Amino acid sequence: MKTLKEIRNDFPILSREVNGKPLVYLDNGATTQKPQIVIDAISKYYDNENSNIHRGVHLLSQEATTAYEEARVKIQQFINAKHSHEVIFTSGTTGSINLISSSFGKKHIQKGDEIIITAMEHHSNIVPWQMLCEEKEAILKVIPINKKGELIVEEFKKLITEKTKLVSFTHTSNSLGTINPTEEIIKIAHANNALVLVDGAQAIGHDRVDMQKLDADFFVFSGHKLFGPTGTGILFGKEELLNDLPPYQGGGDMIKTVTFEKTTYNELPHKFEAGTPNIAGGIGIGAAIDYVNSIGFEFIKKQEKELLHYATQELRKINGLKIIGEAEHKTSVISFVVDGVHPFDIGVILDKLGIAIRTGHHCTQPLMDFFEIPGTARASFSFYNTKEEVDILISGLNRALGMLL
Ligand code: ALA
Repeated sequence: MKTLKEIRNDFPILSREVNGKPLVYLDNGATTQKPQIVIDAISKYYDNENSNIHRGVHLLSQEATTAYEEARVKIQQFINAKHSHEVIFTSGTTGSINLISSSFGKKHIQKGDEIIITAMEHHSNIVPWQMLCEEKEAILKVIPINKKGELIVEEFKKLITEKTKLVSFTHTSNSLGTINPTEEIIKIAHANNALVLVDGAQAIGHDRVDMQKLDADFFVFSGHKLFGPTGTGILFGKEELLNDLPPYQGGGDMIKTVTFEKTTYNELPHKFEAGTPNIAGGIGIGAAIDYVNSIGFEFIKKQEKELLHYATQELRKINGLKIIGEAEHKTSVISFVVDGVHPFDIGVILDKLGIAIRTGHHCTQPLMDFFEIPGTARASFSFYNTKEEVDILISGLNRALGMLL
């Protein structure tokens, strides 16, 4: 078992300075940092194996194909999918949701059908459905939340009807930290014959997700929030559902045969992977999974729980500071506002002190409207953060507020 110091040494960026101060990186909700093993896996591919996959007879292509497909199997095992061909590589969570909204929408959404989302969705789980509903004259419904930032499940039961074709919701809120009762929502949706897409972007790096236990029809996440490279994402879909959907993009690799009269499509997963993919990125996710497995979710959860508890307790001591999102089940994300201070100004001053947080609406404008605020300051922790960093955040905040108030 590694010590926290050893773990931090695995992430080269954590030892850099920002504005002459040691970096305190508390923007893990936006993207996580990358361990050396991920950086090395990407370099190794470009140093040693760079070539295109699924096409070449030559050795480099075979090695790259093997590395890429091995990464797919690692992802399958990581999320406990039944088959590796249920794992589709995409460009990110947004890419995965757009794939489903396009393919599922084309085939299964008609005038008057309903799609249900929640009031705490990221724009990437709002806008694609709005676009689809506009095109198909379908209806978008929204599950409300309470002031603590928790879904009101009883309202969901009232919203869902025989016209509901899909429920698409976030497992964990990027702005509030709320961990939703995912299994319960899936059960209710399935009891009403609706399919479910779960946005796992903010869950994937914090706790084990198990496709067999969850029973989500589609589950999407980004590689870069799992300590992997940016521009990578995953769409998990149940085999029979993915087989039933039309392809998303046309091009190389997704076809079986092409004539000018007709094209037949490739099997899963290739049917949904047109063109040369982000090969190094896929291999990088595989390495990130190896890393997470070596640390273990037991440690990750324990560390993040302690950080969440300690940071919440210390932030509450600051006069005029209000935490936005006080759900009972929360991940290590804390959004807050301070009376009379714009979140952006807090972010700028903290940056001068080497502390990276995110400020703004966090791509959840309707959620900000619900709380009647323009945005929040958000500190989001990962397992490599320390209590000392929480102390630096608190003293930095006190200093910033001393200047701003
Ligand atoms: N969705 C990411 C965040 O919450 C980018 O910061």
